[in-house]
Amino acid sequence: MRTLHTVAELRAELRAARAEGRTIGLVPTMGAFHAGHVSLMERARAETDVVVVSLFVNPTQFGAGEDLAAYPRDEARDAEIAAAAGVDVLFAPPAEEVYPHGFQTTVAVGELAQPLEGAHRPGHFDGVATVVVKLLNMVGPDVAFFGQKDAQQALVVRRVVRDLDIPARIEVCPTVREPDGLAMSSRNAYLAPAERERAVALRRALDAAEQAVAAGERDAAAVATAARAAMEPYGVEPEYLALVAADTLAPVDRIEQEVLVALAARVGPARLIDNTILQTNGRP
Ligand code: PAF
Repeated sequence: MRTLHTVAELRAELRAARAEGRTIGLVPTMGAFHAGHVSLMERARAETDVVVVSLFVNPTQFGAGEDLAAYPRDEARDAEIAAAAGVDVLFAPPAEEVYPHGFQTTVAVGELAQPLEGAHRPGHFDGVATVVVKLLNMVGPDVAFFGQKDAQQALVVRRVVRDLDIPARIEVCPTVREPDGLAMSSRNAYLAPAERERAVALRRALDAAEQAVAAGERDAAAVATAARAAMEPYGVEPEYLALVAADTLAPVDRIEQEVLVALAARVGPARLIDNTILQTNGRP
């Protein structure tokens, strides 16, 4: 595996591969790798000839008072994990390579970026969209791989790629979980042992929503109430817990089409998110 830090090096490295007709896969990341990242790398390895992983903690997607400074960074450890997963190129640019002096162009995303995370993290998705477009332009991948844990991000990225005619396919891969159900996240590293035990509340809320629907409940408010109640024993309050159409993120009253349950909650110093898609399997 080669670790590269500049766009010029990256483009030179990929030129020959592209000329030989080899396909390129991109896994965009902010580092602090865990099994969720590794699953994306393995999927890219299986589906494309040259696997590029970008490692860049993107300042423009963090709001004031968020965890930009504290975000875990360990490039040496990440490089070992990426190499073991069969990654060909780790692209780890410094901030000034991505946002050079005078940078003043951003991507502004419309409606899809407004609810859920967008409502609680103003400007977040414009920062994500801007850096993802830049990474797609730098790497020029055939396929880029994202995780379903960031469901709204995945929808926003698909929309941006369609709207801006970027010739890359976006693949969204399943959330990887700890044995007790907690979604893998770099931010889980912030949790002290007692907080780690309480963090399972997010998955328990989703379990309760799935169970309610499996038992025949179709009223979205009732499903949300069941999900919130499942968090109470853990002393965890959702920042938001919403049932929305899985494709548009518009609020729903009834579980009739594919419905995304998305939630965010603070557990100690960590702000965690998770989601599931409710399936009715055609049953009314
Ligand atoms: O999901 C992430 O890690 C980030 O939002 C991404 C897509 C790498 C953009 O900075």
